[in-house]
Amino acid sequence: MNSIPTITLNNGVAMPQIGFGVFQVPNDETEQAVLAALAAGYRSIDTAAVYGNEEGVGRALAASGLPREELFITSKAWIADLGREETLAAYETSLAKLGLDYLDLYLIHWPAPATDAYLESWKALEELLAAGRVRAIGVSNFLPEHLEKIVALGGSIPAVNQVEIHPALQQHDIQAANAEHGIATEAWSPLAQGAGLNDSAVLDAAASHGRTPAQVVLRWHLQQGRISIPKSVTPARMAENLNILDFELTGAQMAGIDALERDGRTGPHPATFNG
Ligand SMILES: NC(=O)c1ccc[n+]([C@@H]2O[C@H](COP(=O)([O-])OP(=O)(O)OC[C@H]3O[C@@H](n4cnc5c(N)ncnc54)[C@H](OP(=O)(O)O)[C@@H]3O)[C@@H](O)[C@H]2O)c1
Repeated sequence: MNSIPTITLNNGVAMPQIGFGVFQVPNDETEQAVLAALAAGYRSIDTAAVYGNEEGVGRALAASGLPREELFITSKAWIADLGREETLAAYETSLAKLGLDYLDLYLIHWPAPATDAYLESWKALEELLAAGRVRAIGVSNFLPEHLEKIVALGGSIPAVNQVEIHPALQQHDIQAANAEHGIATEAWSPLAQGAGLNDSAVLDAAASHGRTPAQVVLRWHLQQGRISIPKSVTPARMAENLNILDFELTGAQMAGIDALERDGRTGPHPATFNG
């Protein structure tokens, strides 16, 4: 297997460009799913406190026997845990559930902009980073206006902004703001939860390369420089989703997928979602 490329984050930490997401995997099925993903070659796992499966992830990491330094583990502070003290406590809870003594990446899950509490959470993440408790800190679902408020604090710039991106919702404004600030863009629901695999631009590219539609969409993310974290509980799909390193979409095929933008949001809108 070709090794998974990495992105160098703005503090020098290397993050795998393809990871494994565990949203909606029940806790008691997560150990088996993550073990299968690790066996398939994934080393980056994306979980969150609100997914309720950090314990299952932790059991898999322990059972895998893989050295901790080969793994890249992300979790996220939920909206109920916004605020300095709350976020510091949430970090300890996540670590305990995962059975780890540090995370590679800790994210603020949503800005929940009805209050500015995410700014206090950001200061908490900076404290964790300064204390060497976490290797990188970032945000999720942040719009450019929320990024500007973080930048205006004058401290650390987020290493990552994890947002919904797939062919039907490309969020060019967020990607541009991320790039302007040196923030890596990470795509959640990179496959639109499986819904975006029937467009003719995707099907035609898949046919021309002898690949599956999911491989074409994940290759499109990769060629545009994003991190993506496809989820699957199906071992054959886990392997399929990693097996995208040995073909290249043409400029015309990339443009054809770019043209599928249709404001096809599947999740909540960050401007109005407050939990
Ligand atoms: N920060 C946030 O607010 C946020 C929000 C949502 C998600 N996320 C993260 O992003 C990760 C990925 O997003 P997601 O889970 O929403 O959706 P996704 O990865 O876009 O799609 C997952 C769905 O696609 C199916 N699938 C996977 N590989 C496939 C393939 N090769 N061919 C056909 N179907 C395939 C899966 O089915 P099976 O599992 O049945 O194989 C599952 O139903 C999450 O797990 C989570 O870690 C973050």
